[in-house]
Amino acid sequence: ICDDDFIRGLPKAELHLHLEGSLEPDLLFQLAARNGVEIGYDTVESLRAAYSFESLQDFLDLYYQGMSVLLTQEDFHDLTLAYMTRAAEDGVRHVEVFFDPQAHLDRGVALKTVLDGIESGLAEGKRAFGISSGLILCFLRHLDEASALAVLEQAAPYSHRLLGVGLDSSENGHPPSKFSRVFARAGAMGLKRVAHAGEEGPPDYVWQALDQLGIDRIDHGNRALEDPLLVERLRRDQMALTVCPLSNLKLKVVRDMAEHPLRRMLDLDLQATVNSDDPAYFGGYVADNYRAVQQALGLSREHLAKLARNSFTASFLDRAEKASAI
Ligand code: ADE
Ligand code: ZN
Repeated sequence: ICDDDFIRGLPKAELHLHLEGSLEPDLLFQLAARNGVEIGYDTVESLRAAYSFESLQDFLDLYYQGMSVLLTQEDFHDLTLAYMTRAAEDGVRHVEVFFDPQAHLDRGVALKTVLDGIESGLAEGKRAFGISSGLILCFLRHLDEASALAVLEQAAPYSHRLLGVGLDSSENGHPPSKFSRVFARAGAMGLKRVAHAGEEGPPDYVWQALDQLGIDRIDHGNRALEDPLLVERLRRDQMALTVCPLSNLKLKVVRDMAEHPLRRMLDLDLQATVNSDDPAYFGGYVADNYRAVQQALGLSREHLAKLARNSFTASFLDRAEKASAI
């Protein structure tokens, strides 16, 4: 069988996927029309042409603008089901999705609207494709601690519907330490904790995420490789890294895919996984990410199978579920 079929045929868990980042230009235009939202682009092509980024912030500006078309429960349902449909084609069997409630609350969309819409989309994806799922509520780190605490309190009645909390948006200048009390509270609520760290930010932010936020998994973590002591800590604890190769290339975290640290992470015996981050913006879903690193880094089928196994090991499925998935 060819590499494409091999990759798609590997059962995979996707652990780093921002639902709002799976909003394809076609659906974005449909929702803009349905809701009467002005988006500032005339055609799908002109919007797509704007997807060229110099940095994380450059992308985030367009990402927040794009999600302004998401207003109703039906919008969140359609967004989620579109992702599940596409993920099924790539052999995704389980997904732990991120969403950014503060970006919706600030536009007057209620948390319940967002949650109900996403959950019904996930439920339909489970029925149609057999994909299991969990939800991770992310705090926007460019906003302040009080805002994060407020959204966590608002989410408390729904905490049984959440797998965990995460931390995303502009990394530099917004260290994990800013949210240590928020994460302590989330931990006390029984929620798993993850955080973006070491995407653009320094190794010190990865240390902070581990030691001050008590995280269970690191999102990205690329720059951890600059610090040998940190690498040793991650290796010893088999701390999972949710790596996003095409995202790293599009946001210029790496200059060239051939320089991507994923191969080094595997050689260092780190628990690395491959994920799509914001597939509508970065030009590929999870199988495209596997393919990109396979080609640029010369990964073997054993490497690819290891990455797919890692994705279940690193998931928040329970032990029996992991064993049956692998
Ligand atoms: N929000 C959506 N995608 C993100 C990324 N790659 N880094 C930080 N925040 C994000
Ligand atoms: Zn991300």
